Amino acid sequence: MTEAARKQAKEDKSLDSTLRPQGWKEYIGQENIKKNLKILLEAAEERKEAPEHLLFYGPAGLGKTTLAHVIANESKANLKVTSGPAIEKVGDLASILTNLGPKDILFIDEAHRLNKMIEEVLYPAMESRSLNIIIGKGPSARTIQLELPAFTLIAATTRIALLSSPLRSRFSGGTFKLDFYTIDEIKQIVKRSADILSIKIEEDALQKIAERSRRTPRVANRLLKRTRDFVQVKKQNLITSGMAEESLALLNIDEKGLENADRNLLLTIIKKFGGGPVGLQTLASATSEDIATIEEVYEPFLIQLGFLERTPRGRLATPRAYTHLRIKHPSQDKLI
Ligand code: ADE
Repeated sequence: MTEAARKQAKEDKSLDSTLRPQGWKEYIGQENIKKNLKILLEAAEERKEAPEHLLFYGPAGLGKTTLAHVIANESKANLKVTSGPAIEKVGDLASILTNLGPKDILFIDEAHRLNKMIEEVLYPAMESRSLNIIIGKGPSARTIQLELPAFTLIAATTRIALLSSPLRSRFSGGTFKLDFYTIDEIKQIVKRSADILSIKIEEDALQKIAERSRRTPRVANRLLKRTRDFVQVKKQNLITSGMAEESLALLNIDEKGLENADRNLLLTIIKKFGGGPVGLQTLASATSEDIATIEEVYEPFLIQLGFLERTPRGRLATPRAYTHLRIKHPSQDKLI
């Protein structure tokens, strides 16, 4: 991650906590997931059991962590939040697990970054609530087994394919894929955020922000805040459509929500590699981006827009990408 991306992520995190929905009523979109989760939670509550383990996956910023918070609030459970890279040693996981109480929820973000040794300890903890720890080395090594309270693990990942299949198969409550939101849902999210932040915003401005939000709540909320800054500096107190337009243009966000880095990625494929296919590693070097950022941040939305394809031979810019960038596609003699 670049320094700028890290700063952005930090800012997004603090922004999220003020605007984060607390309950189902405030959580907009992902309707099918909500319906399934409500049933799962209600049934578990009736049986007086902890809900079964859940796995959420999908691109960054779509509300996986938020869903875990909503589940915890709605079921009045304690939520303990950690992440794959934060659990370095078996001892770290053992300490987290042994500090859980009955029906507590453990949320592990970036679950694809859990290491193998940690996964091995997690399996029996998930399946039979037992924690097996090896004490000592060599012939005198012993295993002690601790019983854990009935807890629920909620794991989230942007990279489901990197999760080992034994780990995936242990999410007995289900695996749920979060999708990009509709423009209408994003408008509702931005309106709600504007109300919380006491920002006045015109309907057309809501539409403009939503259209450029990559259909991602985290991005939409960030654009709302940047637009608010712009309006404040211009000594205005209403986000008009014109103001939204100006502030988003200043951020170099185009009408599809692409930023400089997205356009640079597409332009590199087109100009340096004849439109592709080009291998991910080569593309990363040519754009000075890291592979994970390309795969997890830029590509999901470019694929969603139909601007980029992942093929077995590498990444390919589609004719639509050419049109968007106003570049003539080799197979045409005019712009489509
Ligand atoms: N913030 C992040 N995700 C959200 C959602 N689904 N609904 C409302 N606000 C959100």
